[in-house]
Amino acid sequence: MQTVKTLQMLRTALAHLRGNTGSTVALVPTMGALHEGHLTLVRRARAEADHVVASIFVNPKQFGPNEDLDAYPRQLAADAAMLEAEGVALLWAPDVAAMYPEGFATSIGVAGVSDGLCGAARPGHFDGVATVVCKLFNQVAPDMAFFGEKDFQQLAVIRTMARDLDLTQPPVDRIFGVPTVREADGLAMSSRNRYLSPDQRAAAAALPRAMQAAVAAIDGGGDVADALAGLQADILAAGFSSVDYATLADARSLATLSALGPDPARLLVAARIGGTRLIDNLPVNRTA
Ligand code: PAF
Repeated sequence: MQTVKTLQMLRTALAHLRGNTGSTVALVPTMGALHEGHLTLVRRARAEADHVVASIFVNPKQFGPNEDLDAYPRQLAADAAMLEAEGVALLWAPDVAAMYPEGFATSIGVAGVSDGLCGAARPGHFDGVATVVCKLFNQVAPDMAFFGEKDFQQLAVIRTMARDLDLTQPPVDRIFGVPTVREADGLAMSSRNRYLSPDQRAAAAALPRAMQAAVAAIDGGGDVADALAGLQADILAAGFSSVDYATLADARSLATLSALGPDPARLLVAARIGGTRLIDNLPVNRTA
């Protein structure tokens, strides 16, 4: 695996990788601090494409002023070893100056789908995500790209951007969402789980448990508001300090639903435990 840190090196390495055989390239964008969830994306990408390019870039534009940009874990050597062991061909690891050179002035905003849920609590976050992902797509020009469904709203924002901007590398139907990878007790894997103390980590398992109970209640015809209120009460009782949102939404538009309809729906939650904000989501009426 080659690691490249400048755009020029990236272009040379990509030309070499693609050769003139028309081989396919998959992109797995990350911010590093890799865990099994990321490696699952890489494995999916390897199964679909001839070559996998991974990126590691802790994107300052998607962190708010009071968020964890400085504390965000950075472990490039360890991450590179994991990617190499998974058969990644090329690692794109630019620094901030390479990604946003002096004078960089552009921002991509995806209205609507960015606004509620995490967008309400983290103003500007999805503009930062859309901007950097659009740049990564243009830099690598992949045939396909892989993202975790754990960041369900992010995936919706990226797909909307790709559709609206007529992106072709990758086209919107080659932007794949991969189901969330979970710890044995159900907690969704996240680079931020490492911020949890042992007690908080144990209590955090209440989140997926309460979400599964809410999904079962809603799928079983129960009242949505009651199920969401029960979910919130359960996780607060377990030790979460606050709930940013616990919402049933249309799985495509992310519009809030007060009752289950014929279209696929998603239960989405963001809640805080200690100083850590955890997000998770589950499909509802998966077979509808
Ligand atoms: O999901 C992430 O790790 C990031 O938001 C992404 C997609 C790599 C953009 O910085």
